[in-house]
Amino acid sequence: MERSSDVSGFYRRSIEERRAFLREWAGLTEAEARAYEFPPGIDPGTLDRMIENVVGVLALPVGIATHFRINGRDYLVPMAIEEPSVVAAASNAAKVARAAGGFQAATTAPVMIGQVQILHVPDPAAARERILAHKAELIDAANAKDPMLVKFGGGAKDLEVRVLDTPRGPMVVVHLLVDARDAGGMNAVNTMCEALAPEFARLSGGRVLLRIISNLAIHRLARARTTFRADLLKTETTSGPEVVDAILDAYAFAVADPFRCATHNKGIMNGVSSVVVATGNDFRAIESGAHTYAAWLARGSAGVVRPLTTYEKDRDGNLVGSIEIPVAVGLIGGATAVHPAAKANVKVLGVKTARELGEVLASVGLAQNFAALRALATEGIQRGHMELAARNFAVNAGARPDEVDRVVARMVAEHAIRFDRAQSIIDELRRGGG
Ligand code: MEV
Repeated sequence: MERSSDVSGFYRRSIEERRAFLREWAGLTEAEARAYEFPPGIDPGTLDRMIENVVGVLALPVGIATHFRINGRDYLVPMAIEEPSVVAAASNAAKVARAAGGFQAATTAPVMIGQVQILHVPDPAAARERILAHKAELIDAANAKDPMLVKFGGGAKDLEVRVLDTPRGPMVVVHLLVDARDAGGMNAVNTMCEALAPEFARLSGGRVLLRIISNLAIHRLARARTTFRADLLKTETTSGPEVVDAILDAYAFAVADPFRCATHNKGIMNGVSSVVVATGNDFRAIESGAHTYAAWLARGSAGVVRPLTTYEKDRDGNLVGSIEIPVAVGLIGGATAVHPAAKANVKVLGVKTARELGEVLASVGLAQNFAALRALATEGIQRGHMELAARNFAVNAGARPDEVDRVVARMVAEHAIRFDRAQSIIDELRRGGG
């Protein structure tokens, strides 16, 4: 019989019932279905309330990046990611940065943009003026929607009006600038935009359509910079100053070429997103914001996208790296406030404000990018990846802890990173042939 996905009331079933249905649907064995089990410490009810139609969890590894020193304070940084080498690379880069004092980081106020789109405005330029003339009352009306946010120093702070040319004719777009304090800002901003919509319609004589936060958070930025000492960058075959120049050449490639820039910025997001995920924040918002910001940075120039980092050489020949990224993350509300693993990760990280979290994100992004460029500009990244893959094969093939290093070394030397080779090397070692 053909399987139907037209399942009504799936959301009304219990987690167990949904699982039973899935087992049947996909022919999952008992063992396969166990992959969905909730680990100890995770209350299924908590997750069942977070999203719809829950059947289980997907457990990502959480690794701790070490050596981070930011604004004179030490951090252990939880990173949730499926990709090998990322945590080790961030830690190594932080160690190099630490030798020169660590990262200096700062943030702007946590100001988000809410957008209200107005259609069919007869006189868009005059409507813009009318809305701006009522700025103070409009901001007050927005703030009346969230007295708590205002009490903590946040709330609507400013209002801008743009007239856009679109394929469907001119549109008036209002930007409400809201200081979200320690929240991501989504709820506060959307509520305020929806509340003000009728007034915008009245003042403009048009019809309001969308009322929604923008993920291009150009007013909620984090910046970090650090120095990577040239003498710490030398390899067996390349001097420190040569590595600095090679990294600058790698960076210049990203400045000049969108194909390289996409990968350069992806490496930054390896660091940023894994901390965003670990702290239960909205990683799609951060990803979208970062990549659109990279395009925004290119406005007015010949290119279409810019690296989110910059690199220069200081007077002493050391490499100076910096980064600027939008950081629409929160510590209150959302999964950060309810997911036990996110709560534990925030506690380990020890950040007290969303701005401090933003400073960590920028520092980790810079560290990650430096590590990638350093590896790419010297030995290439495959060696590190290969070693990790070889280690996995060695352990899975049954190597004892005292054998693992020798099995890995042999596989890497032979360029034979395979399960069957791991097995045969283990046999050879045990027969006394290693
Ligand atoms: C891999 O996840 C990330 C890198 O490709 C980043 C880069 O090329 O800069 C190594």
